Amino acid sequence: MCPTSRSRAFNNSIFCADERPYTAFFIKHFVYPMSLASQPLTTQSTKPHAQYPHKYSVAPMMDWTTSECRQFHRLLTKKALLYTEMVTTGALIHGNTERFLRFSAAQEHPVALQLGGHDAHDLAHCAQLAQDYGYDEVNLNAGCPSDRVQNGMIGAILMAHAQLVSDALKAMSDRVDLPITIKHRIGIDDFDSYAFLRDFVGTVAQSGCTTFIVHARKAILKGLSPKQNRDVPPLDYQRVIQLKRDFPELHIVINGGIKDHGLAQDLLDQGVDGVMVGREAYQNPLLLLEVDKLFYQSADPYDTPEALNEVLIDWIRLKVASGTPLKYLARHMLGLYSGQAGSRKFRRHLSETMHPIEAPPDIFETALAFIKPIGFRGLQEYSE
Ligand SMILES: Cc1cc2nc3c(=O)[nH]c(=O)nc-3n(C[C@H](O)[C@H](O)[C@H](O)COP(=O)(O)O)c2cc1C
Repeated sequence: MCPTSRSRAFNNSIFCADERPYTAFFIKHFVYPMSLASQPLTTQSTKPHAQYPHKYSVAPMMDWTTSECRQFHRLLTKKALLYTEMVTTGALIHGNTERFLRFSAAQEHPVALQLGGHDAHDLAHCAQLAQDYGYDEVNLNAGCPSDRVQNGMIGAILMAHAQLVSDALKAMSDRVDLPITIKHRIGIDDFDSYAFLRDFVGTVAQSGCTTFIVHARKAILKGLSPKQNRDVPPLDYQRVIQLKRDFPELHIVINGGIKDHGLAQDLLDQGVDGVMVGREAYQNPLLLLEVDKLFYQSADPYDTPEALNEVLIDWIRLKVASGTPLKYLARHMLGLYSGQAGSRKFRRHLSETMHPIEAPPDIFETALAFIKPIGFRGLQEYSE
């Protein structure tokens, strides 16, 4: 998003000059649902049991959920809430703010900015920046286990400092009108009892934060890499479901290991307010095609794979024509049609040819020709 369109949140109708080519494209193919745009996007309702508007979200993933990735995902689901990668307060305050915060106002809403940090003043300042840039939510990362961020008191280590987190979230929500949310684990290291988790949420809720996104496994801060920390500690969905029972007035979103929508629906049926899907949405993006119908009772966005392909090709042509190198787009699309006949050839062709800075958009179309889509369902029935 360009600085001239910095306005308060929800001004989705403002397109700056470099976004104008997309306006017609999106009015034709894809318009951010105005029914949602006209609703206040706040989740910080004081009304107990207020309906949580974001039943389905795509997780923040560093280096993966870039702006281009989110724009691609938005072509697959109009409704899911999309999260940015984590950006630290230090990077925003001392680095290139515009580069970190720029996003496509035409294409990405609703979109949440995830912040990494612990200092209440800095976080409040960055929340203000997020609001000025037009984000729909600001989320604090209290789940990342990496050594590097731990040393800066960022991420999962914050779970050991509930009052600090509560004060920081309060400072953020005092500063802005946006919903302020938190994403955390069910515990860290030996602080892994349900009582610890419940006390953490209870203390943080005193800040006024009403949305807790809970990755249903603990983080082990010494000895496991971030990648291992996403697989090794066992998932415990029941702890997250219990949180919802103990805090019925809060919005509890569950995350971790959700690979199909049967499980997602099952978790929603057990009481949580939303599901957040990470790796599966990225690696098998066609999953997102089901979201609007299954979770929001909206129409399927496309009737046929051909209709989807036409939109993707148009989008890639527009983006490349306006200066985005093909690889910035296509690297997030390698999992498209994964499991269907021809998907490996599609992936190979793209990954071998997309890298030159001047790579033409036709490469994507040529790669798509390898796929023999059978439809959007029954993906596992085909092997190459
Ligand atoms: C490549 C990658 C980068 C990630 N980066 C972040 C991040 O920036 N912030 C965050 O809160 N979680 C991050 N995560 C964790 C995910 O948001 C999510 O909690 C985790 O992958 C579990 O969900 P899943 O099993 O659906 O993937 C990342 C995960 C992956 C795979």
